Amino acid sequence: MIKLDYSYLSPEVSPANIAALQGPVELAHKMLHQGTGAGSDFLGWLDPAAIMDAAQLTKIKAVTAKLREETDIMVVVGIGGSYLGARTVIEALAPAGGKQVLYAGQTLSADYTAWLLNYLAGKRFCINVVSKSGTTTEPAIAFRLLRELLVREVGEEVAISRIVATTDPTNGALRTTVQNKGYADFPIPANVGGRYSVFTAVGMVPFAYAGINVDALITGAVACAAACKNPDLAVNPAYVYAAARNIMLEQGKNIELMANFEPRLHYLAEWWKQLYGESEGKDGKGIFPASVEFTTDLHSMGQWIQDGRRAIFETFINIDGGQPKVELPSDAENLDELNYLVGSDINSVNFSAFQGTALAHRSGGVPSMTITLAKLDAFNFGELLYFFQKACGISGYLLGVNPFDQPGVEAYKKNMFALLGKKGDAVKAEVTAAVDAAVGVNVVGF
Ligand code: PA5
Repeated sequence: MIKLDYSYLSPEVSPANIAALQGPVELAHKMLHQGTGAGSDFLGWLDPAAIMDAAQLTKIKAVTAKLREETDIMVVVGIGGSYLGARTVIEALAPAGGKQVLYAGQTLSADYTAWLLNYLAGKRFCINVVSKSGTTTEPAIAFRLLRELLVREVGEEVAISRIVATTDPTNGALRTTVQNKGYADFPIPANVGGRYSVFTAVGMVPFAYAGINVDALITGAVACAAACKNPDLAVNPAYVYAAARNIMLEQGKNIELMANFEPRLHYLAEWWKQLYGESEGKDGKGIFPASVEFTTDLHSMGQWIQDGRRAIFETFINIDGGQPKVELPSDAENLDELNYLVGSDINSVNFSAFQGTALAHRSGGVPSMTITLAKLDAFNFGELLYFFQKACGISGYLLGVNPFDQPGVEAYKKNMFALLGKKGDAVKAEVTAAVDAAVGVNVVGF
């Protein structure tokens, strides 16, 4: 169950402001559901039951069950949309003491890569390489290194049985490798972009390996998809969220802070930042998605949020129940003056911190919304992820952008490839000259 409370957006946003967007929201809804908007080749995610049918899920469970018997660690190799969804759900939901999932290909750090290779040596590990194109530099480098380590450790034949590829069903370099080597493989549907792929095999393979209830996760997504089919703003919280954030932007609030009170939700914010940042940050438009973790960040960013430049609004994630009970013991000396909390559960302290923070920030000029989950389990989390995906499609169309492309991410790659000497459009000498002319001109240091 998901509830969106936007009371603290008042007075900037009222139910009447929201209702005034019913027409544009219905238009955005039609663009999504009739495939008439920009990016309509990438709408497969709208129907989570179709992109993860029972037959595919059964195969995923069988392949990962065997890997769970034969290995202790899965290394998920991927970046961006081929990485963040997996990490988000695993960090939030993976049972304690279960199989370990590690990540590679999400960084070019030599430090991290050396640590990982060293850590894996001598351990029973498998690899899930995830790349729609198969040519993304970071995961391609990591896969080459990890595959070589695995072959060295267990031999070519066993290594093949411990590699699972998740990639485009027909095209791309990784598809060709799958065909040549005979790895188990799962498809990333052609009509699903990376940041909308969490309910495809991109997520489901690592989730099943980690022991997450994948059926409940998909059931939650399907339930949210059904609930969000009604464009009426009186009953659709995802569409109210989309409408409210666009009203905030029109009023000059161009930074949205996702704030949570649970460290397990750290990667939810990372996933959400990619989803909204890549979907909306284009054509000189878009809200900058940022995140904080409370109460930790109340002792660092709290000052800025309370008193700094008034350009932000907050979206709180609140978990209503299911937390373990941790009660505060009595202390005869009571020097920390905490005896008034004896018998209280730490979670109630955390909840009071949330309530006090939202009130204080509202008073300080930071409007906020709160999304409440009944509890942090697979069903509710599936609903939440789908909620954000659906709201993002609507929000992007309300903003007037194509929420399903990311042309801006190519610019750095073009320069990097030229500097590395890869054959392509950009010429190494030109890019090198441009860097040399710009860098090292104004330098201070010692
Ligand atoms: O959302 C996206 O499309 C990107 O973040 C991609 O997922 C990311 O660049 C990885 O691409 P690929 O799966 O082709 O390796």
